[in-house]
Amino acid sequence: MSEQDNTISLSRRGFLRASAGAALLFSMGGVSAVARASEPKALPPLPWAENALEPVISAKTIGFHYGKHHKGYLDNLNKLAAGTEYADLPLEQIVTRTAGQADKAALFNNAAQVWNHSFYWQSLRPNGGGEPPAALKAKMEAAFGGLDGCKKELAAAATSQFGSGWAWLVLEGDQLKVVKTPNAETPLTRGVKPLLTIDVWEHAYYLDYQNRRADYVAAVLDKLVNWGFAADNLGA
Ligand code: FE2
Repeated sequence: MSEQDNTISLSRRGFLRASAGAALLFSMGGVSAVARASEPKALPPLPWAENALEPVISAKTIGFHYGKHHKGYLDNLNKLAAGTEYADLPLEQIVTRTAGQADKAALFNNAAQVWNHSFYWQSLRPNGGGEPPAALKAKMEAAFGGLDGCKKELAAAATSQFGSGWAWLVLEGDQLKVVKTPNAETPLTRGVKPLLTIDVWEHAYYLDYQNRRADYVAAVLDKLVNWGFAADNLGA
């Protein structure tokens, strides 16, 4: 066999191996695509250790909040979505497509709570608080007169939310706003861009602060709030 023949032969064998591999991959891809379609959504990992927010929020609170509450919403979502048109949709689309539909309330509530909690974890960080990045600070000055004005509005929304819910910093058009939502409601369905949230359900603070929601909110705003996350969301 000439060198050229040998090269061709090797190339051909390589092609055949590659073709077989591609066929196998294609086949596996087909199988896994089908398998993925019925795979449940997974709980995203926390962005920090469970004890990383101490002493403001205890590891015990995070352990229950993430491991029981957040996971509970996710488990419910997976059960409710299984075998339906919603099973393969991205989480945000499940939230927006089920919003306001009375017969989809359970699906909406659990999907929105999964989304809200994942967003909340990212809204906090160890050694947070302090000065926001310049672009966010400029928008705070325009909307609230500065960082302190923004924190005051967030604290007011968080403490005045009657019962369970959330306080949010959002972008409406080009303008920062503070809004609050009850229960599982989320600004995702209101045509504004969420930048940051504070969970004011009792399970977020009761083990550490009992009925002192205002103390929890003030401590979060001073020591944990992740302005960098909010600033990143401005341009997202
Ligand atoms: Fe919560």
